[in-house]
Amino acid sequence: MSILVTGGAGYIGSHMVLALLEHHHEVVVLDNLSNGSAASLERVAALTGRDVAFIEGDVRDRELLDRLFHQHKIDDVLHFAGLKAVGESVEHPLRYFDYNVSGTVTLCRAMEAAGVRRLVFSSSATVYGDNDTVPYDEALPTGEPTNPYGRSKLMVEEVLRDLARADTRWSIALLRYFNPVGAHPSGLIGEDPLGIPNNLVPYITQVAVGRRDALSVFGNDYPTPDGTGVRDYIHVMDLVEGHLAAMKAIGRRPGVSVWNLGGGRGYSVLDMIQAFEKAAGRKIPYRIAPRRDGDLAQYWADASKAERELDWKATRDIEAMMADAWRWQVNNPGGYAS
Ligand code: NAD
Ligand code: UD1
Repeated sequence: MSILVTGGAGYIGSHMVLALLEHHHEVVVLDNLSNGSAASLERVAALTGRDVAFIEGDVRDRELLDRLFHQHKIDDVLHFAGLKAVGESVEHPLRYFDYNVSGTVTLCRAMEAAGVRRLVFSSSATVYGDNDTVPYDEALPTGEPTNPYGRSKLMVEEVLRDLARADTRWSIALLRYFNPVGAHPSGLIGEDPLGIPNNLVPYITQVAVGRRDALSVFGNDYPTPDGTGVRDYIHVMDLVEGHLAAMKAIGRRPGVSVWNLGGGRGYSVLDMIQAFEKAAGRKIPYRIAPRRDGDLAQYWADASKAERELDWKATRDIEAMMADAWRWQVNNPGGYAS
């Protein structure tokens, strides 16, 4: 099949492109490189021995999309392009609604005009809001995300549900990611955050490689077994395999389908530090810091719906996540620029 991957030069998108090429799909990537790197696609091409058609451009550019759909016969769209920094979304909400919500609306209008109606959307566990019923399963009502980034994901989910209600020819997967971490085991592609990492695992690997002094553990007084926040971490390769399964499933499922993509169990910040130290054989200096605004104590996925309906489950453990994240970081201490 021929797949358009928006945001394919980013962290998850580049791993997705690799998996698609390995599964013999044709791939076209659209990315404006606002947070991605063309080097990631060169490395994917080197790893797979296949070329990637790359178009540098924006999902909000309707004319560009029309040309793209005219030039390439696309079967499915995997839509990763968007902004994801929670703190930045609080400061610049309009930017987030523009990129994430308007970007998706523009993409869907171009898809509709081209007669392409199969879409996989990168949603997030953030749409469950501050629900304290863990684990989160897809039947829970969505909650109230605490920031514009989270609200943009929830809005897009609602836009896509309305679209599929209005025209039953659409098949849409809303994939709610838990915490994607790790890297391809080759160590050639991985997560390359701009500036100071917001997320735990890239922060840990940057401390280990000497780019940061110490990790701040945001709070050790949560009602969790060791007092630190608990999350459901999922290896990025498991995550992209979940997309392959979802793509296959929506081929025979009209309407909107929602699947959690998580490992189905929670690990604390201290568990993650320990797993890293074991995998990398080096200590992570850390200090306990105040809680971070907007953080929840603990949540993880009920991942059974995806297992039942997609015949998919996450198989890589936290040691593999940490070993792969570390291999990527140590081989590329400065990310793609090194
Ligand atoms: P990323 O920033 O590494 O990748 C996003 C890519 O999209 C980047 O390469 C960026 O240049 C591109 N992009 C952004 N806006 C664009 C636009 N308007 N037009 C074209 N390209 C654009 O992020 P990621 O971690 O790979 O996340 C991919 C998707 O998954 C995002 O939608 C994100 O919100 C979602 N998600 C990520 C996580 C996570 O923890 N990484 C969790 C839940 C959901
Ligand atoms: C965060 C976002 C979420 C987004 C996801 C992926 C917030 C409140 N949530 O999720 O909306 O979908 O990233 O981009 O920002 N931690 C530390 N020290 C650090 C970094 C993190 O102790 O330097 C802790 C956090 O408090 C949390 C855990 O590690 O308990 C995981 O944090 P993080 O990787 O940022 O992911 P989330 O907060 O789950």
